[in-house]
Amino acid sequence: MADQDAVTGNDMGVGEAVEQFVVQQVYPQPGVKAQSDYRNYDNPARDSVRDFYRQNHRHQTLDFVRARRAEFLGLQRRRMSPFEALAFLNTLVDDSDPDIELDQLQHLLQCAEAIRADGHEDWFVLTGLVHDLGKVLCLWGQPQWAVVGDTFPVGCRFSERIVYSEFFAENPDAGDSVLSSEPGIYQRGCGLRNVLMSWGHDEYLYHILRPYLPEPALYMIRYHSFYAWHREEQYDWLCDDHDRAMLPWVRKFNPYDLYSKCPTPPDWQQLRPYYEDLIAKYLPAELDF
Ligand SMILES: [Fe+2]
Ligand SMILES: [Fe+2]
Repeated sequence: MADQDAVTGNDMGVGEAVEQFVVQQVYPQPGVKAQSDYRNYDNPARDSVRDFYRQNHRHQTLDFVRARRAEFLGLQRRRMSPFEALAFLNTLVDDSDPDIELDQLQHLLQCAEAIRADGHEDWFVLTGLVHDLGKVLCLWGQPQWAVVGDTFPVGCRFSERIVYSEFFAENPDAGDSVLSSEPGIYQRGCGLRNVLMSWGHDEYLYHILRPYLPEPALYMIRYHSFYAWHREEQYDWLCDDHDRAMLPWVRKFNPYDLYSKCPTPPDWQQLRPYYEDLIAKYLPAELDF
């Protein structure tokens, strides 16, 4: 297991650039035009995002996902209180990237506060606060392409509607007659719970929080990066009626993740008592990571 020193500022910068790119370019706010430099192939941020997805699509194979699940889903790496996890995640600040103004905690806090401001249920607010905690994978030596970015099913044909889908040509599974077919290793309508998703922070955190949060919250956490499903309407053939019933919740969460940027950043110290109570209502004193 690589140690924490394996994460450099530059490593994190790519991950942040990916998320920024996804927000601003791939999935612009409905009604808002993507920025005009979208087609600027000389844009270094764009190049790093492109390279990120090249790595991601090349390496996220069925075997890779199975190996990461075996490695991490035992949840025996570290016990942390939810607050420790938030603080731990916040060590992933990249000060080498001038385009990124927000640290991890600010993103989570702004997301949660935007949900709260709209009067949603408290478990929904909590979901906003914790939804990216799985990114602590970065601190355990996982490369960016195995932590952040869009997620998608492995073990069946890759949808062409996945961002930079051309890079799947470099994925060994794409050359396998079973793994590149539409049912692949699955049965039609088997339900997403029976589908192996590309490995990243969404799936990891889902397993950590599964005992504690209501079902819609778990769908938001597990599938918030599965844009091919919740935005592009792909992979319905894998879904069952329960997935379809939960999809509106995943969609309801997405704008808060992408677009909640407040002009005045929320004050964590001031808000902390509210969030301490909220966390205590749903989560145990310590979580198994
Ligand atoms: Fe995320
Ligand atoms: Fe997020």
